[in-house]
Amino acid sequence: MTTTSDAPAAPLLAATGVTMRFGGLTAVRAVDLTVHPHQIVGLIGPNGAGKTTFFNCLTGLYTPTEGTVTYRGTRLPPKPHLVTTAGIARTFQNIRLFANMTVLENVLVGRHTRTKEGLLAALLRGPRFHRAEKTSEERAMELLEFTGLANKRHHLARNLPYGEQRKLEIARALASEPGLLLLDEPTAGMNPHETRTTEQLVLAIREKGTAVLVIEHDMRFIFNLCDHVAVLVQGQKLVEGTPDTVQSDERVIAAYLGTPLENPPGDDTDPTGDAT
Ligand SMILES: Nc1ncnc2c1ncn2[C@@H]1O[C@H](COP(=O)(O)OP(=O)(O)OP(=O)(O)O)[C@@H](O)[C@H]1O
Ligand SMILES: [Mg+2]
Repeated sequence: MTTTSDAPAAPLLAATGVTMRFGGLTAVRAVDLTVHPHQIVGLIGPNGAGKTTFFNCLTGLYTPTEGTVTYRGTRLPPKPHLVTTAGIARTFQNIRLFANMTVLENVLVGRHTRTKEGLLAALLRGPRFHRAEKTSEERAMELLEFTGLANKRHHLARNLPYGEQRKLEIARALASEPGLLLLDEPTAGMNPHETRTTEQLVLAIREKGTAVLVIEHDMRFIFNLCDHVAVLVQGQKLVEGTPDTVQSDERVIAAYLGTPLENPPGDDTDPTGDAT
């Protein structure tokens, strides 16, 4: 995979006018969002803003009521496994691991979209199957090294601490060799140390050439990592731009806190310089 730095890169992901209605409720309303290669894009917004629903529209879990989603210029099929095959992988806000499988087995499951060996080959267990299996295992082990879980490879997923389960979800998603990784609240429930190592992991994922779209409530995580941030409020995109632009936007502060404040909580600088 090569990119030329002087040519403007075509978008990897382009969502246009995405709307999702559930009966009378419009959870996502006419949202446009673009992710370019090598970008880390943040999606933030209060609880119930429609962030996860928007992810579900991108990944074929939901078919948007209106709007289109393209990946590398091609419209995505509304089926999760076809979206994965196309090159988008995701993690879930509510962790979805195979609890009674080992850490290594969970990652191997994530590889199945990238292996040609079908069910028949697996049943016959011929030399080609064993070769493919060995390659898959090597690749899975690389991902476990990468995510810091290699020494837990034989543990059952359900016995991992919460923070490591979230990392295992990331390893499993990476096993499908995505061009774009969607993370839904990757640091939820993590302690500050785990959150920091997850930040490093996301940066390393980008270094390897995978773009990232991440939903997070941890603003420090978002503003440290993202090149671009979009804010959803009541299903609509309120603001988007660089972390600096978004951080100092009074509408964003108001949407989170109800009323504009001099300093957002947890922030020791005053981004607006405004003392209203
Ligand atoms: N399958 C569904 N059927 C009906 N309503 C739904 C469905 N999924 C989500 N909603 C509603 O859509 C709205 C947006 O929910 P969503 O989970 O996308 O928010 P969110 O931004 O991810 O919130 P959080 O930060 O709490 O995870 C909510 O009002 C929710 O109740
Ligand atoms: Mg959510």
